[in-house]
Amino acid sequence: MSEYDKLIAAAKQARQNAHAPYSNFRVGAALRATSGRIFGGCNVENATYGLTVCAERVAIFKAISEGERGFDAISVVTDVDPLTPPCGACRQLIWEFCGDVPVILANLKGKMEVIPMRELFPKPFDSSNF
Ligand code: THU
Repeated sequence: MSEYDKLIAAAKQARQNAHAPYSNFRVGAALRATSGRIFGGCNVENATYGLTVCAERVAIFKAISEGERGFDAISVVTDVDPLTPPCGACRQLIWEFCGDVPVILANLKGKMEVIPMRELFPKPFDSSNF
């Protein structure tokens, strides 16, 4: 039993709502606020392809729009091996709102890995750069 089990379960749950008819690649994410609230997100694709939004960003935007600030972990769940890390755009957004949090990658078979954001996103551009 990991301290992140609840966060992984929330990402799995959100993944079930994925709208991924184009890639058929279903992704769930869950973000834990320091308030204790957990926000799930799934990928939401679009016929134009380019308007697709990743699960991680959906979770972040849900939390921010609910007034949350300050997060201590984010999880990403898919059904593949190797595990799925956040894309570049999501790394930028995770850094903006969460900073150096643990990123918990997991799949449906129970494989799990925790990677600190500073390793996934070295040399970030952020508000300290201007
Ligand atoms: N995707 C995510 O939702 N998160 C990731 O970390 C990687 C990619 C989605 C976007 C698209 O709907 C599908 O996966 C294939 O790229």
